[in-house]
Amino acid sequence: MIVALLNQKGGVGKTTLALHLAGAWARQGKRVTLIDADPQGSALDWSQQRARENLPRLFTVVGLARDTLHREAPELARDADAVVIDGPPRVAGLMRSALLAADLVLIPAQPSPFDGWASAEMLKLLEEARIFRPQIVARFVLNRCAARTIIARETADGLADHDPPVLASRIGQRVAFADAARTGRLVCDLDGNSPAAREISALAAEVGRLAG
Ligand SMILES: Nc1ncnc2c1ncn2[C@@H]1O[C@H](COP(=O)(O)OP(=O)(O)O)[C@@H](O)[C@H]1O
Ligand SMILES: [Mg+2]
Repeated sequence: MIVALLNQKGGVGKTTLALHLAGAWARQGKRVTLIDADPQGSALDWSQQRARENLPRLFTVVGLARDTLHREAPELARDADAVVIDGPPRVAGLMRSALLAADLVLIPAQPSPFDGWASAEMLKLLEEARIFRPQIVARFVLNRCAARTIIARETADGLADHDPPVLASRIGQRVAFADAARTGRLVCDLDGNSPAAREISALAAEVGRLAG
């Protein structure tokens, strides 16, 4: 299974959710490889920070910000139960390659009524990729949600009608994510019972069911 977190918008939570999904599956005993496809290498930085803090290594992080990603990823997937791709911002060639590699595309988005959740270009690239690989499954993941706005929006316009559809699991705006990231940690390393940790478990379970 190859899951790619993609959105050309920056700061929406691609890296945060990629690391946390990889961590959640690794903790269940799955062999997970995370591909850092962002030339900025923030997942690699996280992994290096984690090593400096002498924390247990949960999964392998490899840097592969190349247009050949779709050729390398299946090789990596052969030796893993799950491959998670932390996608690049704005780089169309890399984005295309990541889309061609993925079985499941998750589009993290910060819900805002003023803003499309993904760039039009990102959705166009998804449609293009589906010409070659019609089996690609895509879902929005709402991240950094303020509880009230979400409930209001949900009743207002029926999120289920969205295309791509929206996952039921939502991730709230929680400082634990930023605190954990700075020290090479995941939110469950800080407190396994925190709301952030429970939201991640629910998301990992829902995505796991989708991916089969
Ligand atoms: N649910 C959240 N609550 C609070 N902060 C978050 C959340 N998700 C991400 N962040 C923070 O927002 C910033 C951008 O997130 P990041 O995962 O790096 O986005 P992207 O990879 O899409 O650019 C980071 O500082 C991260 O710690
Ligand atoms: Mg990132």
